[in-house]
Amino acid sequence: MSKKGIDIDSVSFSYRKGEQQLAGITTKISQGSFCGVTGKNGSGKSTFTLLLNGLIPQQIKGDFKGDAYVDGINTRSKPVAHFARSVGMVFQNPDFMLFNLTVKEELEFGLHNLHLDKINKRISNALEMVGMAKYEKSDPQTLSLGQKQKICLACVLAQDPEYIVLDEPTAMLDYTSSLHLYKILHQLNKKGKTIIIVEHDTDFLLQYASHMIILAAGKISLQGKAQAVFSKTLLLRQSGVKIPRPTV
Ligand SMILES: Nc1ncnc2c1ncn2[C@@H]1O[C@H](COP(=O)(O)OP(=O)(O)OP(=O)(O)O)[C@@H](O)[C@H]1O
Ligand SMILES: [Mg+2]
Repeated sequence: MSKKGIDIDSVSFSYRKGEQQLAGITTKISQGSFCGVTGKNGSGKSTFTLLLNGLIPQQIKGDFKGDAYVDGINTRSKPVAHFARSVGMVFQNPDFMLFNLTVKEELEFGLHNLHLDKINKRISNALEMVGMAKYEKSDPQTLSLGQKQKICLACVLAQDPEYIVLDEPTAMLDYTSSLHLYKILHQLNKKGKTIIIVEHDTDFLLQYASHMIILAAGKISLQGKAQAVFSKTLLLRQSGVKIPRPTV
């Protein structure tokens, strides 16, 4: 098994007895790839993202089988704090991440926790990138949902992790902001960052993703290079995924 990248090996997971949210998941997210994850509501996408930094099985209770490795290190073997440095997560619900009094403190909190340097520079750059520089002193709770999501994204960008995991980051963004987000991710990917993004809008995925994972009822129904996956229209339809419009 090559050391770099995230390897998920025969993982099954259930939050409660008698259910199975993920079943027999085996995949490799190569370092430097831009990996899109899609599938119907409840297919297990958010649960899947929690495997990528050890939150499952370290902090989220349930029945976990199999193994996950970040750069060759088994996520069972070290605390989540170990993986936080290399795997940054933007959660589906921004309210889970925001609890400080100002936007600046929100970003500072994560940077202090990871013992990172040049904190002010990181904060101003990240807020600039997401177009939220003028909200530095605002109370995050007074922002709109889309603005909160941009702050969560800025928190992760400021930390500059190797792997950036985003769970439906465009769900609350307007079209221009979504496009802007994909341009930022594309630039980061070109610089070598690995992007893992959960997204329902397959048009964005066709345009930007190098690899795709399609989830259906907790199983991978299709995976591989994005162009190849998106050419399998019958399987996509069976998985409840919108066939993307070809890019010109
Ligand atoms: N904390 C939890 N406790 C118990 N069951 C959960 C929990 N979180 C999710 N589930 C269940 O796991 C299944 C998969 O949920 P998950 O959130 O991973 O789906 P998803 O593909 O991200 O859906 P969506 O597109 O709506 O975000 C669902 O049936 C859901 O009810
Ligand atoms: Mg989800």
